[in-house]
Amino acid sequence: MARILITGSTDGFGLETACQLVQQNHTVYLHARNEERAAAALAQCPGAAGVLIADLTSVVETRSLAEQANAIGEFDAVILNAGMLHGPFRETPDTGIPAMVFVNVVAPYILACLLTRPKRLVFISSTLHRQADTSVKDIFWFQRGEQQFQDFPAYCDAKLHVLLLANAVARRFEGTSVTAVHPGWVATKMGGESATDKLEDGVETYVMLAEGDYDQSLTGVYFEPKRKIGEPLSITADENLQEVVVEACRDVTGLTLPA
Ligand SMILES: NC(=O)c1ccc[n+]([C@@H]2O[C@H](COP(=O)([O-])OP(=O)(O)OC[C@H]3O[C@@H](n4cnc5c(N)ncnc54)[C@H](OP(=O)(O)O)[C@@H]3O)[C@@H](O)[C@H]2O)c1
Repeated sequence: MARILITGSTDGFGLETACQLVQQNHTVYLHARNEERAAAALAQCPGAAGVLIADLTSVVETRSLAEQANAIGEFDAVILNAGMLHGPFRETPDTGIPAMVFVNVVAPYILACLLTRPKRLVFISSTLHRQADTSVKDIFWFQRGEQQFQDFPAYCDAKLHVLLLANAVARRFEGTSVTAVHPGWVATKMGGESATDKLEDGVETYVMLAEGDYDQSLTGVYFEPKRKIGEPLSITADENLQEVVVEACRDVTGLTLPA
């Protein structure tokens, strides 16, 4: 049986994956932004081993999530699933980065830096990385600022940046299978009512990666729904672009990715 942590497991893909893994008798730790969401998640996934609490728009709280997880011990799998799309700029207090960019890119970076290295580390991207601005400039919107911020294009960019980050981590973390996932366009709270894909198909991929039911010598690989290996934009293999994301995250957090 595996010990698994899923960030953002109060809803959507994260919650459904957690419930299925609990049913398979794995030791599953949930994660919620606050006490209220934690109680709601535990009520929906009662067999979970526990629920860790941290708002992933805060450097301090994201660091605390890593500490809470490390205090439990080594995880077989960590799925960095928490994400957001819609909403205004919402400048985060300790960095000035818009909340959406922080949750999708900076929080996974902090956790990759600070978590005891798991056997399997999963980043959640999106097929929308294909619609991103591929210049990989002004990742945190410091130059363009709130006036120019639009959530949808910013989300596409963030999902490209987190995919570049995943590949940078894969090059560094020997002995860990580091993967990225597009889970499908699904009518979760984020996906909206017009979505055309099925939740269970994305969850199938999450469960496979959590359980390690794949060739774990694979690293730096991009998965799609129904356990399929996909082809992300070729620029995601560009090590220089990967390092642009890593350096930007390092500069803003003061944390260095372990080699
Ligand atoms: N749905 C799609 O069509 C789609 C497509 C491609 C990729 N994705 C990706 O799949 C992942 C899961 O998304 P979903 O569709 O399952 O969305 P969702 O139902 O909105 O779930 C998102 C999860 O992230 C949590 N979260 C968001 N901001 C947080 C914060 N500041 N601190 C702590 N937790 C936070 C949410 O907590 P609350 O419940 O408290 O809000 C929730 O548990 C995301 O990374 C998303 O970008 C989704």
